[in-house]
Order: sequence, then structure tokens, then C-alpha cells
Amino acid sequence: SKKWVLMVTAQTPTNIAVIKYWGKRDETLILPINDSISVTLDPEHLCTTTTVAVSPSFESDRMWLNGKEISLSGGRYQNCLREIRSRASDVHDEGKGVHIEKKDWEKLHLHIASYNNFPTAAGLASSAAGFACLVFALAKLMNVKEDQGKLSAIARQGSGSACRSLFGGFVKWIMGKGDNGSDSLAVQLVDEKHWDELVIIIAVVSSRQKETSSTSGMRESVETSLLLKHRAKEIVPKRIIQMEEAIKNHDFSSFANLTCADSNQFHAVCLDTSPPIFYMNNTSHRIISCVEKWNHSEETPQVAYTFDAGPNAVLIARNRKVASLLLQRMLFYFPPTPETDLNNFILGDKSILQ
Ligand code: PMV
Repeated sequence: SKKWVLMVTAQTPTNIAVIKYWGKRDETLILPINDSISVTLDPEHLCTTTTVAVSPSFESDRMWLNGKEISLSGGRYQNCLREIRSRASDVHDEGKGVHIEKKDWEKLHLHIASYNNFPTAAGLASSAAGFACLVFALAKLMNVKEDQGKLSAIARQGSGSACRSLFGGFVKWIMGKGDNGSDSLAVQLVDEKHWDELVIIIAVVSSRQKETSSTSGMRESVETSLLLKHRAKEIVPKRIIQMEEAIKNHDFSSFANLTCADSNQFHAVCLDTSPPIFYMNNTSHRIISCVEKWNHSEETPQVAYTFDAGPNAVLIARNRKVASLLLQRMLFYFPPTPETDLNNFILGDKSILQ
């Protein structure tokens, strides 16, 4: 019978890198030139919800993003779908009278519906949550018997940073040594309970889409920036060790210094690229100055900042008290105007307003 539909829904938060990934050694497999470390946000605030469905009545693979149909023909989607399909197992649902054998998955078609609970256009790493969620949901639907690490290596082929969203807490993406990608995967360093005093606040400086995609930005940096070569070889390996230590010991001072320095170096690499890439704007720079001034007026740093391929600030406060002070200061120094979207604060962590 063609009547049945089998479906799975999954929810995956986005992640923010504190030691950045910037630069690929293989563009097709998405293999990076350095390790990176990120923190996965609380699923309540910035996450993707994806439902995947299979039915003999579906005639082709189709996908809808926030209710609008998008094309699945891109290489990144095709790679993820192929990798998952090749690992599918038998699925039997007696209640529905569904019996799918391993070989049937090659012929069956999928319908995929994905929603972001945050503005997709806001330049807030939506692809990380998106591909992680897609791979996880497909693996469940097709009864793929691989561990999360192996699944992360598949999500990586959708979007590099996506591999880190398959775990909560702090996560390391190990660049891997080989050239087939099997050892380039994510591992959890500590779970979300390990350092739950931290509060993450995202200040949406501009909701405009970024001008240079991370893919072309990385390519241009790899081709032209000498600073990037030095960073990947000499600097990041040391920072990874120091960052793991800081996280393990709840050492906010080292954590904040490393996070801010790494964000600034990533943007310095962008400036060192020819032609230069500008992801931060004046408001981003003013936020950095503000936080730096505050941190230097105290005995130890209170807030860490980090910026990805866009002007929005991700601020990490050492605790709830600091977070509420931070919100007050931000609203004082950056009153909402038609030019900025700074009235949009997204709490990436448990709401401090509750
Ligand atoms: O995974 P991509 O292609 O969206 O690249 C992400 C790059 C940064 O967000 C700037 C850094 C990172 O490690 O997430």
C-alpha cells in the first residue's frame, strides 16, 4: 500500500565558536586547517526544528525551509543525503504495517520541513543548526547505527560548523589528519551542566545578510593571508590546549582572554585577506571597546565577546548578575535607533529575565 508516511522530528541548537574555524584544506569534504572549540546554545532560544518524512507516495526528495520550498540539488545536501542513505538499516513499524528493507532506502523519497526559531536572515549561523538537525533526524528515520561522532563527520559535509552542533556543552572539532575526512569530527569536551553559570547574550547589530559568505571568505583568506598560515600552524594549536584547560577549570579569566583574542585574530585575518573582508561594523567595534573598558576596570574579566562572519555580538557573561548588568549597560550605550537593531537581544542561554 502507498498510504503510509513515517516521520521523525528533531531539534538542534546552534553553536558559537570560541576558538574559530576559518579555512579549509579540502573544500568538497569540508576539512579545516585547524581545530576549533565552540559552545552549543540552549535549545530554547536559537534552534532548528526539522521533520523528515518518508512515504512510497513521495515522487522526489523535497525540502521546505521556514515554509518555503528550497532546492536540494546543491552538493552539500546531496553529500549528506548520500552518506546517510548508504548507512540506512531495516525499519519495521508493525503498528503502521511498515516494512522497509535496507535496499529500499535507495528508491524511497524524502520530504523535509525545517524551521528556525530565530530570523534566518539575521546572520546567526543558521546553517550549523540546520545541517546538524537534518543529519540527526535522517539518521533516526533510517535507523542508522552510527555514534554521534560519526554523524558529526556527515553533518560536517553540509556545513563545517554543523559538526559541533551534534553535542551540547563545549565541543571540539578535531581537524583530523587524513584526507578522506573520517577522522575530522566533533567530540564533546564537557556537557551543558559543567559550566552553567555562564550566560550568553546575542546583540543583533544588524539583521542584514552578510556580504561575503563564509565559503568564499575562507577561500580568499587561504589563498592570500599569510597571517592565516601563521595562525593555523603556530597559534591555534596552543590556544586549543589553553582553552580546554580553562573550560575544565571554570577559569573565566583565561576563557575570556582567549575567546576575545581569537575573535579579534579571526577578524584580523579577514583584514589581511586580499581584497580585505569586513564583517564587523562601527557598532561591533563600539561594543568591543565597551566590554574591554569594563573588563579592565575590574580585577578580572567579566564578559567575553566573539563575532562570527557578521557584525552581531555574542557576549558571554561570567554569571547571571553580570549578565543583567550587561543588558542595562548595552541599552544605556546603545539605545534603540532606526539604524541599529540593538534592541534585539537574544538570550542564548537560560533567560536571566525570568
Ligand atoms: O561552517 P561555516 O561555513 O558556516 O563557517 C563558520 C565560520 C565561523 O562561524 C566564522 C567560525 C566558526 O568556527 O564557527
